Amino acid sequence: MLVSAKEMLNKAREGKYAVGQFNINNLEWTKAILMTAQKLNSPVILGVSEGAGKYMCGYKTVVGMVNGMLDSLNITVPVALHLDHGSFEGAIACINAGFSSVMFDGSHYPIQENIEKTTKLVNTCEILGLSLEAEVGSIGGEEDGVIGAGECADPDECKMIADLGVTMLAAGIGNIHGKYPENWAGLSFETLAAVKEKVGDMPLVLHGGTGIPADMIQKAISLGVAKINVNTECQLAFAAATREYVEAGKDLQGKGFDPRKLLAPGFDAICATVAEKMELFGSVGKA
Ligand code: 13P
Repeated sequence: MLVSAKEMLNKAREGKYAVGQFNINNLEWTKAILMTAQKLNSPVILGVSEGAGKYMCGYKTVVGMVNGMLDSLNITVPVALHLDHGSFEGAIACINAGFSSVMFDGSHYPIQENIEKTTKLVNTCEILGLSLEAEVGSIGGEEDGVIGAGECADPDECKMIADLGVTMLAAGIGNIHGKYPENWAGLSFETLAAVKEKVGDMPLVLHGGTGIPADMIQKAISLGVAKINVNTECQLAFAAATREYVEAGKDLQGKGFDPRKLLAPGFDAICATVAEKMELFGSVGKA
């Protein structure tokens, strides 16, 4: 059964580790992440962007696929199905479809509008026992056509949003979606510490987990980050493994063109990437 992310994140914050949110794109992705979480006895959050939701034929299809896998694969570790960077309407649609967690990204609205919209969702999620992530200070890079500049969040605004009663808060601290440029200045731990100071025990979310060096990840966890989002890194691993298979001409040998064979190296690569991140985040054995 899908669970809210609340308990797993509070436990992570207390235990000084982070739960990974891994974004899904299709059946192979979902199966790879769930099987790895089960094997490593780790809690996990499956992230679905609005674009990926559309690609997978809508939120109801996603809920059906994930629930089916939890049953058929005998998954017993805590799993949350979470909307990533949702619009207000997208959050409502996911709640109706059976997601156990949603993110409302109101970071591009003026703070007052972000507060109003987030408040409405706090009430709905509370009644239904779902977890809710809010965002202050947009994350850099491009995701589903939305381009953020990678700004640092205002700690006072973070407190205003945290006080509404959200479950977890994404605060921009110079992080970027996708690959980090050569001249990236790194995470602003000054901002993170100031946000933590204002929001107290609220689990913090670090977006743009791809390519952040291990020491920065560990420092972020020590400063209150309890959820780390990873998307691009699984895509890169999947693409590289698939390229290697095709370039070696394996799709031309025997029944190598069978999608179950063609997609197997990519599947294994996602498993390896997820396992590596779970080790780094410290969530292994914490289910
Ligand atoms: P990356 O694609 O950089 O790993 O970021 C993922 C993310 O933050 C999803 O919200």
